[in-house]
Amino acid sequence: MVTSFISALDNNMQAFFILGTNRELARTELTSVIGDVKPVVDTEDVLIVDDFDGNLGSVHTKLGGTIKTGVIYASVKTQDELIDAIAGLAPTLREMDGKFKFGISVYTGGHRGKLTALRAQTQRVGIKIKQKLKENGQSVRLVTSKIPVLSSVIVTKQKLLERGVEFCVFPMADEILIGVTESVQDFEEWGERDFERPKRDAKRGMLPPKLARMMVNMASGNPETDTLLDPFCGVGTVLTEAMELGYKHLIGSDIDEIAVDATRENVAWEKKRTDNSVEPQMITVRAQDLATFLAPHSVDRIVAELHLGKPRTGDEGREELEERLEELVAMYTESFRAFAGIVAKGATLVLAVPAYVVDGSVIPAGVVDRAKMFGFELIPYEDVETTSMGALRYGRRGQMVLRDIYRFKKV
Ligand SMILES: C[S@@+](CC[C@H](N)C(=O)[O-])C[C@H]1O[C@@H](n2cnc3c(N)ncnc32)[C@H](O)[C@@H]1O
Repeated sequence: MVTSFISALDNNMQAFFILGTNRELARTELTSVIGDVKPVVDTEDVLIVDDFDGNLGSVHTKLGGTIKTGVIYASVKTQDELIDAIAGLAPTLREMDGKFKFGISVYTGGHRGKLTALRAQTQRVGIKIKQKLKENGQSVRLVTSKIPVLSSVIVTKQKLLERGVEFCVFPMADEILIGVTESVQDFEEWGERDFERPKRDAKRGMLPPKLARMMVNMASGNPETDTLLDPFCGVGTVLTEAMELGYKHLIGSDIDEIAVDATRENVAWEKKRTDNSVEPQMITVRAQDLATFLAPHSVDRIVAELHLGKPRTGDEGREELEERLEELVAMYTESFRAFAGIVAKGATLVLAVPAYVVDGSVIPAGVVDRAKMFGFELIPYEDVETTSMGALRYGRRGQMVLRDIYRFKKV
């Protein structure tokens, strides 16, 4: 985590969280971690909350879906006031020795027209601020980008958190909020865990680590005491992300011995890299047979990407895909039966299941009723847009297999 030395002026600050590309998942993860908050601003880009009394840097380190965090310092009415406020604020935030670097990112605060107007003027605003700071004899550099916001890469590489300031600006209907970035997502660390782990398996399908992290957070477990199981562990992405979050009791299983070995190898790498002594229990078993290996009530959280089916070629017709999904759902149903035999009452499941794209429409896997047959009730997501079946959908344009993320509770 890259963190700034600026900290809030008082304990109960107004904090902002810039959400990543899958806003619905990022927002759900965030509220799972910081608790139910009443946001004062809640847009596609950002959640701003009142009276945040946690440590932004340490909260951010836990999150897979949040790109930046920071503190709101001021509210102004006009662009001229914005220029004066930032020019006045800058010297109070940093020692002004040497060259002072700053950048401005304009995020959606809720008012479309004002957003467009301010984004068109960002360069001008930046130059005016620079002039004002220079008038005081300060050597200043304005950091800019082709897009209206500075990426985590730019903020980090330009050392804006350590030696400069990134101002995040949120135009709203009758005011403009000015925030200062405290932390940005550590893109190098995420990249290392994604691309440098010893075992990767694109064919089998791997969860992106950020998605795995969001899913583990959405399970809201207690890392010290809860036992978390991934019964379709593949190369172990869920388990290594749970290790990052401090889970002590982990179980991974898969039908395929090769996958179990790959997970062991990735876990060993993670242990060494982070000096972590946790040793997940590993089992080679079909998910449907787990109840013969694990004791009743022994599992508190199940976080998994279920088997997504044969890799798609793109030539499949709708009927064939529907048949494939039916077969998968039959296997999931037997897996739910097994889960019911091993989980504690109140256990939470966060599961990614496939939704197939065909001819421009999406066929989801119908799992909600099957889960219900074994006492797993859907936990509805709040304040985010879901699919008609109540899932959060993860996928990129052009993908043939999307992932629907469901959350269940054992009643
Ligand atoms: C999509 S992959 C999971 C990838 C994993 N999330 C990761 O990031 O590495 C699905 C896994 O399910 C396993 N699998 C397929 N059918 C299974 C079953 N009936 N029981 C348990 N595992 C199964 C496959 O071997 C595969 O490793």
